[in-house]
Amino acid sequence: MARPAKLRVGVLISGRGSNLQALIDACAAPDFPAEIVLVVSNVAGAIGLQRAAAAGIATALIRHQDHSGRDAFDEAVDRQLRRADVALVCLAGFMRLLGAPMVARWHGHMINIHPSLLPCFIGLHSHAQALAAGVTLHGCTVHYVTPALDAGPIIAQAAVPVLPDDDEERLAARVLAAEHRLYPLALKLIASGTAQAATPESVLFNPAP
Ligand code: GRF
Repeated sequence: MARPAKLRVGVLISGRGSNLQALIDACAAPDFPAEIVLVVSNVAGAIGLQRAAAAGIATALIRHQDHSGRDAFDEAVDRQLRRADVALVCLAGFMRLLGAPMVARWHGHMINIHPSLLPCFIGLHSHAQALAAGVTLHGCTVHYVTPALDAGPIIAQAAVPVLPDDDEERLAARVLAAEHRLYPLALKLIASGTAQAATPESVLFNPAP
């Protein structure tokens, strides 16, 4: 019997791309319900572009400096995603804020991974924020993207302990290892239809088929 069509995914990156690699590795399993059809970077020389090329995935470099403003940059990214017939966008270390029109266009079809247990510690330096707050539990979150920063409906979270002798680097490494497990899991939940955006504020979880 023919396999069901896989969800076509575009990944937006700006750098190292270790989460991209985790998604690439997950998608390599024949029964994984998603495939990455395009990787877009806004930074030339991003290591993630090499990871994509090594996996035989189409890449596009869209430098924000080459565009007149946020809207023009967003439109160039949007054009590439549509040309590749992308159905879901995964932000994976994409260090560029997208404008409200772009976020609205992909509403319910764009997700992000953030290195904290949201709603705690939004924005940059989440590990330093966690250490400064003295929490004993930290982690990462995959959520739908909405106009407000790191505030969209939560799809999945993974927690890690904060240990007494942690510094930012040690804590970041522990969270990153959890990210690499969580992002593929969240993508699988969406691609299999188990999780979907219900309203701008919530996620609907369907029983696994
Ligand atoms: C990750 O910690 C991710 O949560 C954050 O940026 C970092 C990207 O790392 N948004 P990588 O490029 O996936 O290695």
